Amino acid sequence: MHFRTRAIHVGNPPDPATGAVVPPVHLTSTFVQPGAGQWAEFDYSRSGNPTRKALETTLASLEGGCGALAFASGMAAIHCVTMLLRPGDRIVAGSDIYGGTYRLLHKIVRPNGIDVQLAPSTDLAAFEAAIDRRTRLVWIESPGNPLMSISDIAACADIARRHGALFGVDSTFATPVLTRPLELGAGIVMHSATKYLGGHSDLLGGALVVKDRELYDRLYFLQNATGAVMGPLEAFLCSRGIKTLDLRVREQCRSAAALADRLVSDPRVRRVLYPGLRDHPGHEIAVRQMDGAFGAMLSFEVDGDFAAAKKVVESTHLFRLAVSLGAVESLIEQPASMSHASYDRADRLAHGITDGLIRISVGLEAPDDLWQDLDQALTAVRA
Ligand SMILES: Cc1ncc(COP(=O)(O)O)c(C=O)c1O
Repeated sequence: MHFRTRAIHVGNPPDPATGAVVPPVHLTSTFVQPGAGQWAEFDYSRSGNPTRKALETTLASLEGGCGALAFASGMAAIHCVTMLLRPGDRIVAGSDIYGGTYRLLHKIVRPNGIDVQLAPSTDLAAFEAAIDRRTRLVWIESPGNPLMSISDIAACADIARRHGALFGVDSTFATPVLTRPLELGAGIVMHSATKYLGGHSDLLGGALVVKDRELYDRLYFLQNATGAVMGPLEAFLCSRGIKTLDLRVREQCRSAAALADRLVSDPRVRRVLYPGLRDHPGHEIAVRQMDGAFGAMLSFEVDGDFAAAKKVVESTHLFRLAVSLGAVESLIEQPASMSHASYDRADRLAHGITDGLIRISVGLEAPDDLWQDLDQALTAVRA
């Protein structure tokens, strides 16, 4: 079955008890057991819940994995992966990663005795040089946040494999519509389901999808032992969102590409970071690795500094000033003061996340309305 068909039908059979086309939401914490010491498929909702299971089944199919695990948030999903490591191990992560991941790695994982090394995953030689014998986990994002850097997932997978490390990809920006990292050699693909999977800014969730049954079992053990599972209501909303994932993402990509073209030719804008632009350093890899579109996230820099960017993001009306992304509503933010504020300033600047950078998440509004909104905000900064 094609992607769109699986997004609607896999994991979502009609309810056998009632024939309901949409399976019910199982708002229950516990399940009656057949007898003392006897276990049916579900016994307690931390260990498993039918509504969560339905979502996990859909996700495993869309990413081409053997199993999926749904978490309370994207950060809970990444945290679970880091729990596979032991003191003395090393994690090598791409330098263009979400601020919350940076904070988790530096403020929680590192103090627990795990060595954390960031290196540019777009520069394969430099990335490989950061990997040593202790390295157990290699972690990247593509497109990267907020610079939209494109990493060659298959090449990074090859490097990790040669060094005997597990390779994980945070594919939140790409979604399984555009990129399926497990097919390119990754061992784990991770999503903040809060973003495109849910798609309507109304839930918080995360997901891991894996290729290998033994790894699935280890992660399932950690998830069940530590407890950051997705609730049934969120799982239901996420499953509903996924039914339109392909349509939403492809349309949002079209609008983002149109906005990128307009921003590129605008004299008020210093540079535009969008993988669909021919002069983007990752464009050729993106053409190979992303399925017919380049994502609906883009960043741009305005002339001027922190104050100018702040003024632009505070002057839009349709683009809501908010962190997060991937929903039907367009959002705008200033990474330096918002999504990446937890970065050490020197580190942030060294990674190219300048004070004047603005990141937008393009939603499903009419592209002309979105352009008019950006246009007036870019003018407001000069007033
Ligand atoms: C790329 C990326 N990864 C992970 C996360 C964390 O996900 P959550 O906010 O669902 O914990 C985010 C959140 O913005 C993100 O953008």
